Amino acid sequence: MLLLDGKLLSENIKAEIAAEVDVIRQKGGKIPHLAAVLVGENPASQVYVNSKIKSCEQVGFKSSMVRRDADLSEAELLEIVHNLNNDPDVDGFIVQLPLPKHINEEKIILAIDHRKDVDGFHPVNFGRMAQGMSAFLPATPFGIMEMLRRYNIETAGKHCVVLGRSNIVGTPMSLLLSRKGYPGDCTVTLTHSRTKDLPAEVRRADIVVAAIGIPQFVKGDWVKEGAVVVDVGINRIPDDTKKSGFRLVGDVDFDEVAPKCSHITPVPGGVGLMTVTALLMNTLKACRKEIYQ
Ligand code: GUN
Repeated sequence: MLLLDGKLLSENIKAEIAAEVDVIRQKGGKIPHLAAVLVGENPASQVYVNSKIKSCEQVGFKSSMVRRDADLSEAELLEIVHNLNNDPDVDGFIVQLPLPKHINEEKIILAIDHRKDVDGFHPVNFGRMAQGMSAFLPATPFGIMEMLRRYNIETAGKHCVVLGRSNIVGTPMSLLLSRKGYPGDCTVTLTHSRTKDLPAEVRRADIVVAAIGIPQFVKGDWVKEGAVVVDVGINRIPDDTKKSGFRLVGDVDFDEVAPKCSHITPVPGGVGLMTVTALLMNTLKACRKEIYQ
């Protein structure tokens, strides 16, 4: 069993990006600038946004954070989005999800200028991705594709089973893996809460992508010998031995599944770090106007 090391990969990619930023700086070009909007006090969201800002610093990007309390109105958030859309110094920005219940996420995503949508959540980017056109790919699926590519995981003709049909992971992942090219050319099964016999579906998989948000859900006897397992879950479970009182586990029961796999992503240290790195890759593309000339 080989670990798909998101930490090592993301460090390599960040070093590549930092080198590109150095060249931009030497030539007097525009330094990429990512802005992040964080509404409310969701502890996981705070960790993610802080990690995104810190990663910007590591590669030499400019970053800015817009923080607001959970009682911010939808109109106020729309105004923030409009200001970021119209700020020529900001190349790309994200609005961290989930948003407080009184704010319509769909409305906010639609208000983001798709040319600055480095999360790849806007339907223009999603539609372009689905049609194989150049687009900002959603950060988690983009990070996973990059991971498969850099580890030379064979994908053509493989049967891939994706667990979870969210707009930000499961659905785009299934589209990207079924697209022509590498990584891709998979035969994909997209499973969800109404799938009849989930363990039987997973047993047929050469590649498993688990993105359901249930801790240690995928068990050892669900996984075919030699499968590649990508664990997207980042779940907190109580752990008295930790100072924080919790520890992070994925959607896969790592101890049971790892011995059966050819490759598996750890949690933490797997997909999560690739998500942040993919966001940096998208921001560099946005700054270079590579997607929308
Ligand atoms: N919430 C969970 N994942 C993400 C992400 O990739 N981007 C944003 N904006 N919010 C998220």
